[in-house]
Amino acid sequence: MRIVKSTFAQTLSDLAQKNILEELIMEKLNIGIILGSTREGRLSPQVGEWVERIANERGDANYQIVDIADYKLPLLGEADATAQATAWNAKLAELDGFVFIVQEYNHSISASLKNALDYAREAWNNKAAGIVSYGSVGGARAAEHLRGILGELSVADVRVHPALSLFTDFENGATFKPADLHLVNLNGMLDQVLAWSGALKTLRV
Ligand SMILES: Cc1cc2nc3c(=O)[nH]c(=O)nc-3n(C[C@H](O)[C@H](O)[C@H](O)COP(=O)(O)O)c2cc1C
Repeated sequence: MRIVKSTFAQTLSDLAQKNILEELIMEKLNIGIILGSTREGRLSPQVGEWVERIANERGDANYQIVDIADYKLPLLGEADATAQATAWNAKLAELDGFVFIVQEYNHSISASLKNALDYAREAWNNKAAGIVSYGSVGGARAAEHLRGILGELSVADVRVHPALSLFTDFENGATFKPADLHLVNLNGMLDQVLAWSGALKTLRV
């Protein structure tokens, strides 16, 4: 009788553990859509909102726009920015993966994005990222520079990369009207970001 009871208790305990495990597996990932530019009149919010809308239609993760401008980060080391740095790192720590909205500034990323990248280390590590870029040649040169930086921060950047043209995807260079073909790449990129974000999460527990 004692044997039967202990087997029953063990089964209950196994089930409880299984539920917890299932919950962990089913928990949606948190993906931040990071706006890389901060200048007055920037185009990045339009692009970020497009990514957020398509991503939310998928319903497969918790997607949120993360606007660097909200964190008012001074140039690293120029002023006491403990409060800003703490808030920025806390936001990044909540996230399992990223989509960087990247614009090309002199063949590279914006100074504000580089500064924000430099403000954190562990909060970036062992997470995945996708890139959506724009510029005269799709922001390709900026995107490639970003990939090098992400390597140093132990962020795994995925291959699929929607590259938007300032000439054909923005009406009058101002109003974002993406060509349909970018949807395929956007969804392909999000598929890869979710797969790698989920896999890398297991390294952080
Ligand atoms: C300082 C500066 C440098 C730029 N350099 C490039 C460049 O090298 N290549 C390019 O394709 N576009 C370049 N552009 C155009 C930007 O990619 C374009 O203005 C874009 O909208 C900037 O992103 P934002 O509107 O989100 O700030 C440059 C813009 C600025 C302000």
